[in-house]
Amino acid sequence: MSVELTKTDGGMAVLTLNRPEALNALSFDILRQIDAAFDEVAGWRDVRALLIIGAGDKAFCAGADIKELRNRQLTDQKRGAEQGQAVFARLDRLHVASVALVDGYALGGGAELAMACTFRVASRTAVFGLPEIKLGLIPGYGGTQRLPRLIGEARALEIIMTGRNVLVEEAERIGLVNAVVDGDLMGAGEDFARRFTRYGLPALEFARRAVQRAGDLSLNDGLQMEAELSTLAYRTRNASDAMAAFEEKRKPEYCDD
Ligand code: CAA
Repeated sequence: MSVELTKTDGGMAVLTLNRPEALNALSFDILRQIDAAFDEVAGWRDVRALLIIGAGDKAFCAGADIKELRNRQLTDQKRGAEQGQAVFARLDRLHVASVALVDGYALGGGAELAMACTFRVASRTAVFGLPEIKLGLIPGYGGTQRLPRLIGEARALEIIMTGRNVLVEEAERIGLVNAVVDGDLMGAGEDFARRFTRYGLPALEFARRAVQRAGDLSLNDGLQMEAELSTLAYRTRNASDAMAAFEEKRKPEYCDD
């Protein structure tokens, strides 16, 4: 299998893109395997975060498999882009947040996968980019939509229209990555996720849903949605206990309902 799914002792799911000989490039088969892995993660109610990492020390993922992209019918190409977009969009709907652990290249579809994750943690050697313009293409797995939402329109356009590499220092400065870490990337990714996984899953999920939809809604509609989700959060047992704990000056015990 070119995609492996495991669980850590700390209750996290780990999806590994395992095609290092091709810098973990996203063949159509790998995309199908990622989709199937998301099905599995959705059924794992005992995990509290999904970490995504690339095998080998050169790349998180070098993008769509360019060799497969050539000589396709336009209808197949369009369907392929829609399928890639649909697979990555599933990350928003998972019950747990996702963290891309980026070491080496995250280019094209690889950068788009990282951007579809809730968070990005990168090593000092991480390199991001949307080089599709060099192939006469534009990003097709969500890059034109997610990059401007993350870093603003002008910066996103400059990166997309030049196809240039974005080194990790810049990626951190412009908000493309949440954290840059030294040493063991997997351990650092688990540490990063542990900062939020100890809280109750419903509030974590509502927070993600509210912020993710902010870009799609008018301010009024967004505020309405926030009021509804914050009321749903208020109704959880977790919220009752945590607020009581505050008054009783004890530590809350977070639960998942
Ligand atoms: N597709 C298919 N194979 C790829 C690949 C890709 N995207 N990226 C790398 N590989 C393969 C290479 O063909 C090579 O295989 P062989 O040994 O069989 O020739 C192997 O991985 C190692 O790659 P390189 O020898 O090229 O390694 P390098 O260190 O010299 O260069 C690199 C690394 C700069 C990342 C270079 O591989 C590269 O430019 N790759 C393509 C990156 C790219 O353009 N990505 C965008 C793809 S289009 C896309 O993603 C569209 C979309 O929006 C979904």
